[in-house]
Amino acid sequence: MLNQEDNMEQKITVRPAVRSDIADLANITMDCVEGGASIGFMNGVDAHRLLEFWSNCFDSVSSGGRIILVAESSEHPKIVGTVQLLLNMPDNQPHRAEVAKLQVHRCARNRGIAEKLMVAIEREAKLNGRKLLVLDTVTDSSAARLYRRLSWIECGEIPNFALWPSGEYCSTTVFYKQLI
Ligand SMILES: CC(C)(COP(=O)(O)OP(=O)(O)OC[C@H]1O[C@@H](n2cnc3c(N)ncnc32)[C@H](O)[C@@H]1OP(=O)(O)O)[C@@H](O)C(=O)NCCC(=O)NCCS
Repeated sequence: MLNQEDNMEQKITVRPAVRSDIADLANITMDCVEGGASIGFMNGVDAHRLLEFWSNCFDSVSSGGRIILVAESSEHPKIVGTVQLLLNMPDNQPHRAEVAKLQVHRCARNRGIAEKLMVAIEREAKLNGRKLLVLDTVTDSSAARLYRRLSWIECGEIPNFALWPSGEYCSTTVFYKQLI
């Protein structure tokens, strides 16, 4: 157990994900896509596709390629958020990792759960000897505000980097953070 705090009446625990979380994780991703988030999938994505995506993520955990954390609530739904650390880097970048797939279910937003997940994943990165983290996110998004609040440094913006689930282009902003 990495972190446990009272969040009003709701208790939130951040812990490593396990394979039996897959259905809940696919449900969070579906909720984010339906809510309009640009996180790799388009409107109408099939639930089986998301289960397959998460299953592949756990294969990567098993081979040491990534760490997945989940935020678990004391109330229903149990799993309300997730974040990943991608560890597979070229031989000349062993000190670096990438943060990805930060997602919080719409029913649990604006309570600091994403911030807890980010603090925990940065701790995991340090424990794994990583000193430099990078990530990218939709420009001017709620996530971009979060990363700035957590002292991530903004490098710049890439226009038309990805698509919203509805099909229009969106820009991405690249961030980095040096871990001390
Ligand atoms: C981006 C995302 C992960 C943020 O999750 P979250 O748990 O709502 O984030 P937080 O609660 O830490 O912060 C969100 C806001 O709530 C506010 N907040 C935090 N705790 C709060 C509390 N106890 N009471 C009131 N507001 C609070 C924060 O200040 C922040 O305000 P802002 O939007 O004005 O900057 C979530 O919106 C999401 O999953 N989006 C879709 C997926 C996505 O885009 N992921 C990013 C991929 S890079």
